[in-house]
Amino acid sequence: MDLNLKDKVIMVTGGAGLPGSIGETIVRHIVAEGAIPVIVDKHTRGKKLEQELWDEGHNALFVEADLTTPKGCRNAVEQATGHYGRLEGLVNNLGVNDGVGFDGSYDDFVNSLKLNLVHFFAVTKAALPYLRKSSGPIINIASKVALTGQGKTSGYAAAKGGVLALTREWALELREDDIRVNAIVIAESWTPGYESWLKKFDDPEAKKNEIVSKIPLQKRMTTPDELADTILFLLSERASHTTGQFVHVDGGYRHLDRAIT
Ligand SMILES: NC(=O)c1ccc[n+]([C@@H]2O[C@H](COP(=O)([O-])OP(=O)(O)OC[C@H]3O[C@@H](n4cnc5c(N)ncnc54)[C@H](O)[C@@H]3O)[C@@H](O)[C@H]2O)c1
Repeated sequence: MDLNLKDKVIMVTGGAGLPGSIGETIVRHIVAEGAIPVIVDKHTRGKKLEQELWDEGHNALFVEADLTTPKGCRNAVEQATGHYGRLEGLVNNLGVNDGVGFDGSYDDFVNSLKLNLVHFFAVTKAALPYLRKSSGPIINIASKVALTGQGKTSGYAAAKGGVLALTREWALELREDDIRVNAIVIAESWTPGYESWLKKFDDPEAKKNEIVSKIPLQKRMTTPDELADTILFLLSERASHTTGQFVHVDGGYRHLDRAIT
């Protein structure tokens, strides 16, 4: 299936995670389709990734930005559009399950919202004039935590709930610009971040086996490649009548009957 994404400029926030992270994997899938990723991240690792992609013969741009500030969000879009003159897709991916619960302060909670939700609005607002011109789609990365809870992570849960609400709100508001807006709801995906979270348990291997045993399809975690494949499809014109959806790429984790599975 030709996704027809060649030469399209697509921004990925938090796109310079460690190899095997979701953002970095999305970036690699974008170049595999012949499209051009704008990697926005506060970590200079993004510069190395940009260079690596150029060395492999791909076009790519790294923009260093702290997306917890309004200036960082604006600058990221300005640098990308200043460079390419256009933007044809946006993946709001940046998010960190920072474990801000009732032990945290008022400021901790607000900062968690800044890290996990507020930049979705600020980056999208800055990108809108360009997305309107290209009818460029938006993908918001959400989490099952918004729907199931997790415990001890009020900030992240509230933020991811907000991400789902904004997906519906924007899909409705932006329909007249032919901008499609969809959310990818992730449950358990094996990433470097997930691995370091597991290490906090006394027996990480036992905890992993316990989690995996509850994933209905094939009793395994979702790979970042599987997430990226669905994201690229939703970014493409092949998904031309899909908008406002919460797409659960999770091996049935969230919806299938646990009593049977
Ligand atoms: N792995 C899972 O099972 C899972 C489950 C549910 C949701 N998710 C979601 O998937 C998305 C990606 O997760 P991941 O594990 O690939 O992320 P990650 O933690 O590996 O990468 C996060 C990236 O964001 C960057 N970053 C952090 N703070 C920043 C800031 N202030 N400004 C700019 N960049 C900043 C980091 O430098 C890093 O490169 C997140 O939204 C996460 O909530 C993952």
